[in-house]
Amino acid sequence: MLDPRPANTMPLASLIAGLRAAGEDTRLRILALLDAGELTVTDLTDILGQSQPRVSRHLKLMAEAGLIERSREGAWAFFRLADRTGLGQLARVLIERIDPHDATIASDRDRLHDVRAQRAEVAQAYFSRHAAEWDRIRSLHAAEAVVESKIKALIGDAPLASLLDLGTGTGRMVSLLGAQVQRIVGVDASHAMLAVARANLESDGIKGVEWRQGDLYALPVERNAFELVIIHQVLHFLDDPSRAIREAAQALAPGGRLMVIDFAPHDLEFLRETQAHRRLGFSVGQMSDWLIEAGLEIIHHDDIAPPYTTGGELTVSIFVARDLRKQMALKGGL
Ligand SMILES: C[S@@+](CC[C@H](N)C(=O)[O-])C[C@H]1O[C@@H](n2cnc3c(N)ncnc32)[C@H](O)[C@@H]1O
Repeated sequence: MLDPRPANTMPLASLIAGLRAAGEDTRLRILALLDAGELTVTDLTDILGQSQPRVSRHLKLMAEAGLIERSREGAWAFFRLADRTGLGQLARVLIERIDPHDATIASDRDRLHDVRAQRAEVAQAYFSRHAAEWDRIRSLHAAEAVVESKIKALIGDAPLASLLDLGTGTGRMVSLLGAQVQRIVGVDASHAMLAVARANLESDGIKGVEWRQGDLYALPVERNAFELVIIHQVLHFLDDPSRAIREAAQALAPGGRLMVIDFAPHDLEFLRETQAHRRLGFSVGQMSDWLIEAGLEIIHHDDIAPPYTTGGELTVSIFVARDLRKQMALKGGL
């Protein structure tokens, strides 16, 4: 049945519960802090200078009212503002009304800045330990700038409602496309990588990304929800890429696009031993079969070879496929 309520309104009882949950000094301060991005209980206790049980109690109350959401990442729990509908929208309306020059709010913001700087330092230390290996791989394949400008061109400039970046790593795809997307979810199995992604995107000024630790075989996201899903340089790490593609296809909204970027077939066996690659690239036939089996229609394929000057041997393939449900509904006259 259609919801008879006008848009942007909510049941009276939810509104009262939301206002009660927000109507307290510390809780409003927490909402203002979460407007800048996800935070853990420890981050919040450091910023607010309050005990962990107190902060946890405030968070629990606001989560129960629907103002904020909690997501687990290994031993840590991250809190963020609820999505832009219902109580999440109410939280944003309240935050907009807070005077940014208020002394308490300004000092919270300074503390947040310090906490983030510490976090970024830890993340950067992890990244530096691996950077040398990644740079070596990079020198073997097509220039990243060329691949990225191709990705941008294929996606176009139009605003997107939602992006799901699978195996987000350092969040590079989110940095590349984030400015044109309203809702962004980045998923990665590695907590350390998510920490790097978080720090990178915070310094890029892209707010509100939902980072989720999870497995590409069992995605921690809603089905039928995303206008664009990207799997950039991840499938070659997996034993069963076709399963990950089927799972990704389920996350697409009707008519949504799945973009897969990975290596074309190669014989650099050492990547298996030194870089944990499971698959030495994918042929066009192989990838096309998987995309079609997942119920998608392939709308684009491109190969980008490395420049001769670098002597690289890895060609990067880009596939774009589309969910067919919108088209089928049109054909059926719906
Ligand atoms: C090369 S890196 C990052 C690529 C990233 N998409 C980019 O654009 O830079 C591959 C990422 O895939 C993640 N990964 C590998 N297997 C995964 C799995 N089964 N589920 C979720 N993430 C996975 C790794 O943790 C790593 O961060």
